[in-house]
Amino acid sequence: MGHFVITGGKPLKGEISLQGAKNAVLPILAATVLINGTSELHNCPALRDVTASLKILRYLGCKAEQTGDVVTVDASQITGFEVSDDLMREMRSSFVFVGAMAARCGFAEITYPGGCELGARPIDLHLKAFRAMGMKITEEHGKIYCDARRLRPAAIHLDFPSVGATENIMLAAVFTPGVTRIVNAAKEPEIEDLQNFLNRAGAKIYGAGGSEIYIEGVPSLKSVTHRVIPDRIVGATYLMAAAVTRGELLIRNIEPSHMDGILPVLEECGCEIGYPRDGILNIKCKERMGATDKVRTLPYPGFPTDAQAPLMAMLATACGSSMITETIFESRFKHVEELIKMGANIKTDGRVAVIRGVRELSGAEVTAGDLRGGAALMLAALGASGTSKLHKIELIDRGYEAPESILASLGAKIKRVE
Ligand code: EPZ
Repeated sequence: MGHFVITGGKPLKGEISLQGAKNAVLPILAATVLINGTSELHNCPALRDVTASLKILRYLGCKAEQTGDVVTVDASQITGFEVSDDLMREMRSSFVFVGAMAARCGFAEITYPGGCELGARPIDLHLKAFRAMGMKITEEHGKIYCDARRLRPAAIHLDFPSVGATENIMLAAVFTPGVTRIVNAAKEPEIEDLQNFLNRAGAKIYGAGGSEIYIEGVPSLKSVTHRVIPDRIVGATYLMAAAVTRGELLIRNIEPSHMDGILPVLEECGCEIGYPRDGILNIKCKERMGATDKVRTLPYPGFPTDAQAPLMAMLATACGSSMITETIFESRFKHVEELIKMGANIKTDGRVAVIRGVRELSGAEVTAGDLRGGAALMLAALGASGTSKLHKIELIDRGYEAPESILASLGAKIKRVE
């Protein structure tokens, strides 16, 4: 339960290499359960959520190791189909293991993920889809029991383009003879990365990245090697860190085409963004940021909800007023009261936040309420005058690889105190 001590006011300068995408590697780790052989994943970030997924894989009987940015999983001997309560509590996105366990073992057992820092986090879309595929699902004492011995191809229309539900259906349908169709699928790049991983292992999935995905059942999947896509949210976070501190940053191993919903907002606020060549992006923000009158978080390719909190930290010292509407999650403004402690002028009403830019924030003692809110407070502290203490940084470690080392390499005064 460590904390960061951050002394702000230093413009960030330099270059970083972007980590692999947490939200791509987590569903891909679940997908390794489907493979009667070995999966070798490159560009995997060292994160608490990745460690939690490796624990689940070992609990299911797999061999799973991470060495540097390479994760190796041998799922030839699966001995179970149940995710224990404590493993589920450690990471609610473990629910994505259900589809893979069901398809590989014919059964899956897991506790209800329950709410998290962002609100209720229901799984009704997952369960409705599984039932349409012929899965028999019973719920008792907070546990979910899935019997998937007789899956059938189905046409599934998602009421909302849920990322997790789209991924879970893809995983559950991989071995189902016939064609399973997802309509109104999530279009995030991480879905396409999951399709590419599975097809490289011998699956037949088409359409990921669009709103209709087709999964044609195959008998089995074989050993595979795959490189995970870059993390567009971590990339956006560091771009905004450069903006908050009026610095300049070059990012390698980035995929700008995954950031079409984000980069125009930064340019509207006055950042200069350049693409010197493939996989590289740079940003210069010498002056105080301008405001952006309205940003709504939307499913991809709209502005991503995961970048909402870092954006708010950046706008807190912009010149003018901005409005952010969080349309995806019901309670994703936990960082607001912490930013106000640092001198921000923010008013919220339900899912709408109005940010009146102030000239400067002041260092304060603040606490992360969730992963991206913690990242937002880190950014605010980097731009603030004076010193801040940021608690519950284990939440930041879930999604950001060695943030203090990366920021210190760019000139930030930041220290991790365990
Ligand atoms: C994924 O969560 C990401 N997590 C989230 O990133 C991200 O914020 C989210 O997608 C939206 O992009 C991972 O990929 C591991 P959803 P997921 O299902 O799959 C509602 C981060 O910070 N919903 O698309 O849980 C739900 O309540 C994390 O890296 C239902 O109503 O998101 C929410 O309001 C946070 N019923 C909305 O849909 C369901 O059955 C979006 O959820 C499922 C979801």
